[in-house]
Amino acid sequence: MLNKKLLSLCLALAMLISFTACSGDDKKDEGAEKPESEETQGEGEEGKDAEKDDSDANEEEKDGAEVEGKEEETAEAGEVNLYTTRHYESDDALYAKFKEETGITVNVVSEKKAGALIEKIKSQGENVQADLFITADAGNLAKASKEGILEAVESEVLISNIPEKYRDVNNEWFGLTKRARVFLYSTERVSEEDLKGISYDSLVNDERWNRKVLVRASSNIYNQSLVASFIEIMGEEKTDEWVEKLVSYMARNPEGNDRDQALAIKNGEGDIAISNSYYYGKLVNDDDPESKYLGVADVVGIYFPNDDENGVHVNISGVGLIKNAPNKENAIKLMEFLSAVEQQEEFSAANYEFPVNKDAKTSDLVQSWLDNQNITELKEQDINLSKLGEHNEKAIEIMTINNWE
Ligand SMILES: [Fe+2]
Repeated sequence: MLNKKLLSLCLALAMLISFTACSGDDKKDEGAEKPESEETQGEGEEGKDAEKDDSDANEEEKDGAEVEGKEEETAEAGEVNLYTTRHYESDDALYAKFKEETGITVNVVSEKKAGALIEKIKSQGENVQADLFITADAGNLAKASKEGILEAVESEVLISNIPEKYRDVNNEWFGLTKRARVFLYSTERVSEEDLKGISYDSLVNDERWNRKVLVRASSNIYNQSLVASFIEIMGEEKTDEWVEKLVSYMARNPEGNDRDQALAIKNGEGDIAISNSYYYGKLVNDDDPESKYLGVADVVGIYFPNDDENGVHVNISGVGLIKNAPNKENAIKLMEFLSAVEQQEEFSAANYEFPVNKDAKTSDLVQSWLDNQNITELKEQDINLSKLGEHNEKAIEIMTINNWE
């Protein structure tokens, strides 16, 4: 414990020194995850780069940004410049519909990594061209906010369509879709009895799972946000214990993206994995004969952890208005459009996520996962997602101290 405290102190010092030089997780990601290049959760991946993955934000970058529609520089009235780590063909259909209804053209600039996109926007300085920023994970949105590139939006439409817990406390970003950080398990080696009442906590307190747990690296924002949520809910000390136990229960040193953990289950390397829920949809619908994930969903199931006290960790993809956006009014119109029921259903279904608007229907496939568990209403952690950004540094510190690679 004393060693941990010393290490903690050293880490805090090191972080202080390097704070201005890098933005933490992106840098780490490059080192830890480059070979795997994960999923840009639709964020960048779907459609065009289908076989690349989706770790929103954390992925491999393409060369330069991809500009669609009009040229990036021509930010005039009648258009809006959307900078995003998400890219689905179905999103383009929504933007076309937006143009039909409003006459406003949506120009899409996409990058796979949130960090790269934030830097790109910052580099525009006072001549900023970007109007909107869309990325996955409240932790990434908090980073954009911290970098000073977002501006608060006062909109009754957004306030009424998006529940408070999925909005920034200062209205600098708004959730558009939800995903849960769930368990994927071997349908061949894990029984119903094993899963009964399983929670994040029981996972690391039951010998059944010792050396059987698969999870990606601590450099990944999804894991950082999961740990940050625990800090908010149960405090630093208990979170430290949880992480320590988790690391001791790992089936192997972390490698790969979320879907690679499911692949490792198929290969018998472990029995249970921590993953974002939408990846299971990607696995189920992966019919590319060349894909390494082909057939993984045949032997892997999805389970939403739950217990009497705490619900499942839910995170978002969301949008923020860029400070000094040249097309501010149009940008807010697009934000409001995306939060409306009809768009919510299409936007969430495209990436096997949940809509944030309560009146929007969850897609049949995603709903079927809940039905299989007899869940009528998903029990979620009772926290405001702004807390994830607040606790991000502490989460990284706790993971590092406990040797979560
Ligand atoms: Fe992702």
